Amino acid sequence: MARKIIVAIDGYSSSGKSTMARDLASRVGYRYIDSGAMYRAVALYALEHEMINADGSVAEASLIDALDGIDIDFAVQADGSQHTMLNGVDVEREIRQLRVSSVVSPVAAIGAVRHRLVALQQAMGRSRGIVMDGRDIGTTVFPDAELKIFVDASPQTRAQRRFSELVEKGSQVSYADVLANVVHRDEIDRTRAESPLRRANDAIAIDNSHLTREQQSEWLMEQFNRVINSLEQ
Ligand code: DC
Repeated sequence: MARKIIVAIDGYSSSGKSTMARDLASRVGYRYIDSGAMYRAVALYALEHEMINADGSVAEASLIDALDGIDIDFAVQADGSQHTMLNGVDVEREIRQLRVSSVVSPVAAIGAVRHRLVALQQAMGRSRGIVMDGRDIGTTVFPDAELKIFVDASPQTRAQRRFSELVEKGSQVSYADVLANVVHRDEIDRTRAESPLRRANDAIAIDNSHLTREQQSEWLMEQFNRVINSLEQ
């Protein structure tokens, strides 16, 4: 039986990292964890409990006080996909809406939120055999991951992907608003004090702007096999 590893995939928003991560997990029979969904669930909680101020800032003290009562989990569906659960309620659809995307970066910049979610994520990886994507997986959550990938793509490519996704789901949004949101979130993710988005020194970088889903999936599979083979020698 092959040894199980941790695969950490980090990168900018809408870089296609979740698609890559999900494809790999299903090919190799690992559990896939979307760590961004966990930050989105906390942001949704803050929105639903009036913890977002009129100027878009977060009522930090109230959110920190409420953290112990925020339970986040994933429920596996019949088709193998996972739905994010917030205090036992399926919030998979709500957390993808632009109103959540618009407030999630400041929520994710709060140290106490990060500490709680990082601890949950580390617990999920205790028995290894997982593919987790996010911003700080290779740097903070699993600095000892056997395979680390850093995914990039131009802001325009990423905004176009997110825009198509939202339109497909029936949201009434403009491409300009989605692009502005992508650029703004990049800036917050990169410059926050707690675990800013950066490539781990030992992460392999890939720009997938011009790759098809199959090409990136193949590329990742090769990286995975290379690590597994090197561990078995
Ligand atoms: O990948 P995403 O767009 O669903 O992520 C949502 C937000 O959560 C994004 O603003 C960055 C933040 N995030 C984070 O800070 N750390 C992670 N490991 C994952 C996401």
